[in-house]
Amino acid sequence: MGKNILVTGGAGFMGSWLVDELIRRGHSVSSVDDLSGGYMRNVSKECRFTKGDLRDSDLVNRLVKGVDIIYHLAAYAAEGQSVFSPISINDINIKPMNNLLVAAVNNGVERFVFTSSMAVYGNQPAPFSEEMARLPEDPYGAGKAYCENMLEIFRAAHDLDYVIIRPHNVYGPRQNIADPFRNVIGIWINRLMSNRAPIVYGNGEQVRAFSYIEESTDAIANAGFAPGARNEIINVGSPERVTINEACSKVLRLMASEQRPEYVPPRPQEVKVAYSTTEKSERLLGYSNRHTLEEGIACMIEWAQGMGPQEPSYRLPLEIVKSAPRVWVDKSM
Ligand SMILES: NC(=O)c1ccc[n+]([C@@H]2O[C@H](COP(=O)([O-])OP(=O)(O)OC[C@H]3O[C@@H](n4cnc5c(N)ncnc54)[C@H](O)[C@@H]3O)[C@@H](O)[C@H]2O)c1
Repeated sequence: MGKNILVTGGAGFMGSWLVDELIRRGHSVSSVDDLSGGYMRNVSKECRFTKGDLRDSDLVNRLVKGVDIIYHLAAYAAEGQSVFSPISINDINIKPMNNLLVAAVNNGVERFVFTSSMAVYGNQPAPFSEEMARLPEDPYGAGKAYCENMLEIFRAAHDLDYVIIRPHNVYGPRQNIADPFRNVIGIWINRLMSNRAPIVYGNGEQVRAFSYIEESTDAIANAGFAPGARNEIINVGSPERVTINEACSKVLRLMASEQRPEYVPPRPQEVKVAYSTTEKSERLLGYSNRHTLEEGIACMIEWAQGMGPQEPSYRLPLEIVKSAPRVWVDKSM
């Protein structure tokens, strides 16, 4: 039987894919987004959409009434920027969580699915597995670690069931390519569409496992229902590892570009090697990697070229300018 579901961040990249998938599965879905980073063009006409800020506890109480499952995706997810804008980023990422947790308990929500991040692992040796300690290296990761811990506390104190998802480096159509602070593949594609060189921080030998949106969405949708996922922490993402240089070469080749990467100094606190285990998500959420990185990038390029280049949008100010990357201070992304 269909459930009443609330998806936060429903106008964003991952939230909008999730809303579509849950509607396709026959659920009654409402979504909320303040459109600070999302777009109305992503919002399904088949969901009840509210434009609003989740820092408003009255709004959150109204939205959670009658809801069976919450998927909380809304966030300001610029991990690198969080080192330089910790006040506003923590405010956005923590207050909504507390509002939603209290409303979930008071309204008898059955399950609370939270998209945390691989950022909670910090600089431990990869692959990151779920039983490793939370040792974040930046304010974004610290905020996600706080939210995870609050879910565990609310489980113990108030019997609220949760699933903590730790996605990593998700990319694909609908990603905000105008954000200069995050989503490296989107930033490269956007720059290349206006014939500007792709920027690489450091030597480009950082290792990541970029994860295509479609399969990440399926696994996150399953998290609301899979019996074995109850009160579990689960990594979600691709097992295919690449260096930033390799990923950049693929983008350049697929866009038939003559440009070469422009290397700029490394970002402070950036974790060099970051990828996760996939066994638990395969077992509990049926995760299966269906797109190679090349296939996924090709889909994203086709979508981005349909929109054309986007003007970079520097939404949140840098609160600490000293030692911030020059390309951010100068707004030259
Ligand atoms: N994309 C990734 O690679 C990735 C990796 C790990 C974790 N995550 C997490 O997954 C979630 C979704 O990420 P995404 O890539 O889709 O980001 P996104 O920026 O596209 O979506 C987040 C949405 O939240 C909305 N939002 C922000 N603050 C809000 C507020 N106070 N009230 C209401 N809405 C608000 C934004 O407008 C945006 O549409 C986030 O929690 C992020 O931390 C993403």
